[in-house]
Amino acid sequence: MGMVDVTELTPGQILESNVVTPNGRLILPKGIALTPSHIAFLHKWGIARVQVQGDRDEDKEVNHELLNRIENYLAPLYACNDMEDPVTRAVYEHAVRRLLARCSSGWIIPEKEPSLPVNDGQLLDSFFAGEFSLQDLVKHDVKLASFPDIYFKIHKAINSPKSTAHYLAGIISMDPSLSAKLLKIVNSPFYGLKSRVDTISRAVAMVGLNELSTLALGISAINAFRDIPRELVDMRSFWAHCVAVGVLARHLGKNFPELSREGLFVCGLLHDIGRLVMFRRLPAISTEAIIYAQSNLLPLVEAERDLLGFEHAQIGAAIFKAWELPEFIAQPIGGHHQDDCFDSLLPAIVHLADFIAIAMAFSEKGSLIAPPLSARACDTVKLTPETLDEILPQAQEEFETIVSAFFAPGQS
Ligand SMILES: [Fe+2]
Ligand SMILES: [Fe+2]
Repeated sequence: MGMVDVTELTPGQILESNVVTPNGRLILPKGIALTPSHIAFLHKWGIARVQVQGDRDEDKEVNHELLNRIENYLAPLYACNDMEDPVTRAVYEHAVRRLLARCSSGWIIPEKEPSLPVNDGQLLDSFFAGEFSLQDLVKHDVKLASFPDIYFKIHKAINSPKSTAHYLAGIISMDPSLSAKLLKIVNSPFYGLKSRVDTISRAVAMVGLNELSTLALGISAINAFRDIPRELVDMRSFWAHCVAVGVLARHLGKNFPELSREGLFVCGLLHDIGRLVMFRRLPAISTEAIIYAQSNLLPLVEAERDLLGFEHAQIGAAIFKAWELPEFIAQPIGGHHQDDCFDSLLPAIVHLADFIAIAMAFSEKGSLIAPPLSARACDTVKLTPETLDEILPQAQEEFETIVSAFFAPGQS
């Protein structure tokens, strides 16, 4: 169809070529089907004309319908956010592109709302509402006896001055499931190693003792929560969200040389573990919080504050302290929903990674509504639409590989 004036564009038309600003920044990629918000975006950027593909009516019809369905699917995730904010807008545009690409490779947009847990009277909390404190909850839930043995061995090895790379590799290698997951992650684009790593001792040599041991600690901590009934939470969706937050946290942190990158993935991986403590100890209130959040279009954390007076982030931090996980992990996890913590880099990074993971719909059945994006966290991390253009394509690829490492058939 050739060049078309932006004032004459209609939703559903396909861009024939990339749209870029005069200084070369990509605004929209070629091949994208235009939505009303894309067209508004082009106006906002002062773009006068763009090149679009042919104008067959039936194509426009199909694409327009698909876009509407994607926009409807994404809309609740953004219910508490300002769509005029440039970073929110940029994440949204990336989410639309991601879902369009997924649809073209056969993914089907779920028709129904995710099924919510139901309390049929069988769910009993360990405490009565209003009659316990955060300390009570944590004190009763530090069930170290149920923790996998490997966790303690790794923990002891990390904290021993006599520990060597060889010794730690030996401990990890005794757990085949953990070793398989670690090797898959170390060989993923996440670490960008040039040659394949087949043994744990080689992995320790390539990525470093601290990095690998923190990763091993994080993955083994997950196993402490394998007993949560699937009627309460879809664990695959839960961990997919957490893996996405880990991958994004690592990318968001890479421009800060003062920040040790080691542990960023694990901070993301374990950031919502307080929710699992809640499912185990307070299944009735946790169920109520999910339903309350969905029916009022609220982020889950706000529903928890309304119903409980505290939130999963505080529970997570308290548990990690009790388990003696390093402070650099416990501190950002405790603050990832607290705006007054976002002058600090790590809590701000985990908050932003959490927002992006939800807003990009990385987890399909998480019953999640994105918390409001914090302008303070964006300032601290210097997050801009341009940064998102840089990190999101690679983060998506890494997310797919690592999720498959966690959920490969036959692995637990
Ligand atoms: Fe959270
Ligand atoms: Fe989260």
